[in-house]
Amino acid sequence: MGEATILPLELDRVSFVVGGAPLISDVSCTLAAGPRTVILGPNGAGKSLLLRLCHGFLQPTSGRVLWHGANGVDPLRFQAMVFQRPVMLRRSAAANILYALKLRGIPRPERERITADVLGRTGLARLADKPARVLSVGEQQRLALARAWALKPQVLFLDEPTASLDPAATFAVEGIVNAIRAGGTCIVMTTHDLAQARRMADEVMFLHHGRLLEKTPAASFFAAPASEPARAFLKGELSW
Ligand SMILES: Nc1ncnc2c1ncn2[C@@H]1O[C@H](COP(=O)(O)OP(=O)(O)OP(=O)(O)O)[C@@H](O)[C@H]1O
Ligand SMILES: [Mg+2]
Repeated sequence: MGEATILPLELDRVSFVVGGAPLISDVSCTLAAGPRTVILGPNGAGKSLLLRLCHGFLQPTSGRVLWHGANGVDPLRFQAMVFQRPVMLRRSAAANILYALKLRGIPRPERERITADVLGRTGLARLADKPARVLSVGEQQRLALARAWALKPQVLFLDEPTASLDPAATFAVEGIVNAIRAGGTCIVMTTHDLAQARRMADEVMFLHHGRLLEKTPAASFFAAPASEPARAFLKGELSW
């Protein structure tokens, strides 16, 4: 990074309403560079929707998503998102990354260099020429991370990056996420895995029924959550 950043990101009374149902209600918060933010909450709480609203794939029905450092540039160019089920093109693993770089206008020799680099860093070098869609779920998740990493985003949104991965694949993904962060990328992720949240979170945002009930340093969240739903959630008692 080093240069100007599009952060901080501010959500100003963001709501997302579909057919009269408030799926995200009046969320206000600020995300700054530094802490890894983990969004927690039960199924259907609105975690994926909130990430999509932050990323800009969805527009709030009311309220504003503001990138205070953007100064007129398109914030989408400086952030990336990895979805719960990554979508791969019907091409080789390497070609999926090369294509994403081409869309960003990166010259060809540099595309090749960056692609080889991120495939190596994610342990996928020997799978470079395999069709992306035949890779295992864990390999595809690493490929999605490699593709996002190639773009050197200032902010990376990750939606359940280790859902349906075994423990070894989960640790591999966590290592990659931490390496991306070490390069200066701000990490915002969701997870269902409380052990993972304890390992990865510097800060927790707790969502319940589309409302942001807590945004607090991870240590205090896990030691003493402030809201009753969060206490029940941590005890495994919160039912939707
Ligand atoms: N485009 C949409 N139209 C209508 N309802 C939607 C839409 N997208 C999501 N929802 C609903 O909004 C709620 C929140 O969905 P979301 O996917 O954000 O939950 P989540 O917290 O990510 O859950 P999970 O833990 O299961 O991934 C759900 O009840 C879902 O059915
Ligand atoms: Mg989700």
